[in-house]
Amino acid sequence: MDHMSTLSKLVKPHGSEQLQPRALTGADRQLAITRAQTLPRLNISSREAGDVLMLGIGGFTPLTGFMGEADWRGVCTQMRCENGLFWPIPITLSATPEQAADFAIGSEIGLWDANGHELLAILTLREKYRIDKALECCEVFRTNDMAHPGVAMVMQQGEINLAGDIAVIGDGRFPQEYPGIYLTPAQTRALFEEKKWYTVAAFQTRNPMHRSHEHLVKSALELCDGVLIHSLLGQLKPGDIPAEVRQEAISVLVDHYFVKDTVMQAGYPLDMRYAGPREALLHALFRQNYGCSHLIVGRDHAGVGDYYGPFDAQHIFDEIPRASLLTQPLKFEWAFWCNICDGMVTQRSCPHSDAERVIVSGTKLRKLLAENQKVPDHFSRPEVLKVLQKYYAGLTDTDKVEVQLSGHSAR
Ligand code: ADX
Repeated sequence: MDHMSTLSKLVKPHGSEQLQPRALTGADRQLAITRAQTLPRLNISSREAGDVLMLGIGGFTPLTGFMGEADWRGVCTQMRCENGLFWPIPITLSATPEQAADFAIGSEIGLWDANGHELLAILTLREKYRIDKALECCEVFRTNDMAHPGVAMVMQQGEINLAGDIAVIGDGRFPQEYPGIYLTPAQTRALFEEKKWYTVAAFQTRNPMHRSHEHLVKSALELCDGVLIHSLLGQLKPGDIPAEVRQEAISVLVDHYFVKDTVMQAGYPLDMRYAGPREALLHALFRQNYGCSHLIVGRDHAGVGDYYGPFDAQHIFDEIPRASLLTQPLKFEWAFWCNICDGMVTQRSCPHSDAERVIVSGTKLRKLLAENQKVPDHFSRPEVLKVLQKYYAGLTDTDKVEVQLSGHSAR
């Protein structure tokens, strides 16, 4: 164990004393790149690529690769791997039966991105198995409705899962595309140590931040040494606001409305699964690896449509044994501006009626922005709206329709 981790006051990584990044470096990486040219290849999905990168940087510590059948079943039904490790969502890799038939147990397979352009990792195949997809969906997503984007993803994946350890080679170009934002767990931990932040709340986000989000982060700042504003950089649903626009909108908010050095902006490489409560647990688990003691969990965290109750993602933390995770939720009620309170409040602190509350759903906001209409006062900061208005002004009419139709995440 290195000196830093022995002395660290930060939460320990999940199920381990140390981070376990699966990324190869230096000569080992070069040798693996050469070897991969002669190996059988598999192009993997965007979700799987995000998982590979997360394994590479140690965000999924202590996993060493894609799960086998016993872990898959245990995780689906009891949120436990075979060895007892708490894990809320299966981390699996799939292939078609034809592809799987070509791969021998014990052999190595080169994993390439969906277009076959970037070599991401080498998998040493330990096991091939068929899964009950409906079981996975009902357990993880609480539904097997194909209209749920996470369910559709599982249903459309190959019929055979491939399990085994991986050695990660690629970076998905995240470090180049998001310099200073794409931080590894080791990097956020080092920065927290440097800033002497020992209690850090993570703010999970996949949207630009408006005043309600600012309110949650500022409330967390009253309780913790710092807040990590941690954006999903992988894929969302079609029509959602792209990550680079979200980063810009968050940056202007931080620059204008936060005390310097109280929040840190960063991003991580996963795709959204929209698994609501189960995903909130995964969010807490990997934030533990990034060194965060808390995770902000507000209204409809990681939800989609109306598959989950607005606070199910909070309740699930009370349904698991407390020792399952070190990182604990900071639970927040629905936040909004109230005209009579004359400030940002939550459903818990404001006694007034809906008529006094400034509430704009995601669908409504997209429509207002697409039609260049005024967004209600106090919903968002002017600097943030300016960034979003610029983005919408650059869209074609067809893009605008698509953006408006992506109303799944309405809230
Ligand atoms: S998500 O991936 O967790 O769904 P999103 O960007 O939509 O990301 O929300 C970020 C966080 O803010 C989540 O914890 C969510 O529950 C919370 N949140 C968003 N809007 C509100 C609100 N008006 N009141 C309370 N919590 C909110």
